[in-house]
Amino acid sequence: MTTTDVTATPPEDAVEALAVRVRGAKRTFAAELAPVRALRGVDLDVRNGEFVAVMGPSGCGKSTLLNIVAGLDTVDEGTVEVAGERVDNRDENWLARFRRHHVGFVFQFFNLLDGVSALDNLIMPGVLAGMKRRAAESRARDLLDLLGLGDRTRQVPAVLSGGQRQRLAIARALVNEPTLLLADEPTGALDSEGGMEVLELFRRLHDDGQTIIMVTHSPDVAAGAGRAVLMRDGRVEP
Ligand SMILES: Nc1ncnc2c1ncn2[C@@H]1O[C@H](COP(=O)(O)OP(=O)(O)OP(=O)(O)O)[C@@H](O)[C@H]1O
Ligand SMILES: [Mg+2]
Repeated sequence: MTTTDVTATPPEDAVEALAVRVRGAKRTFAAELAPVRALRGVDLDVRNGEFVAVMGPSGCGKSTLLNIVAGLDTVDEGTVEVAGERVDNRDENWLARFRRHHVGFVFQFFNLLDGVSALDNLIMPGVLAGMKRRAAESRARDLLDLLGLGDRTRQVPAVLSGGQRQRLAIARALVNEPTLLLADEPTGALDSEGGMEVLELFRRLHDDGQTIIMVTHSPDVAAGAGRAVLMRDGRVEP
């Protein structure tokens, strides 16, 4: 028998070390027939530097959870804290600033700017966040090198492979050195090779201390994360 008291409140420093703390989060969407209760009381803790995979059946609320952590959507009830700060019930200006400084978001279908080069895809978000163009370009080049795309700076996304495009999208998400890297099925549109490329990259970023929350349907991809949580019917399973 262990004497560890699992119900004890974590010590103060453990609480401070949380990157994400969600308590009792509820989110209901209006729909034609009946309201959809996408989140029904989600509790989730993610420590700084953790790499967490979120799994669960389609419609269980994974994307909704990621969106409320990202400040892309807001809860109806409950609290959401990122880096010790409440992000629920903020106005759109505050959330836009929060996203620029704290959140890097990676989408299933990349959402890159098709008409511009890989380099410009990275420079733009930096400039939008207030970096000087030179600094943004230098950061963009560093990231492209880091992510193995250093020889692709002038190419447009269309000529890159799926895995390369997603690595470019991850680079873009990292431009502003986000507190959180959030990814919604980042390997969902890739073949297994491209998926493993992306997973390897996440693992490297995690080794360097990046906090990552990744939604995935793939048990193989989830196995590469440090921890997997399972959602069902709008809740995180204990
Ligand atoms: N903007 C919205 N308006 C109405 N209903 C929504 C909206 N966003 C999500 N929903 C509904 O909320 C529920 C949860 O959706 P969510 O996208 O979070 O699921 P998911 O777990 O990400 O599913 P998938 O694995 O298919 O991506 C679903 O029933 C979905 O139809
Ligand atoms: Mg989803």
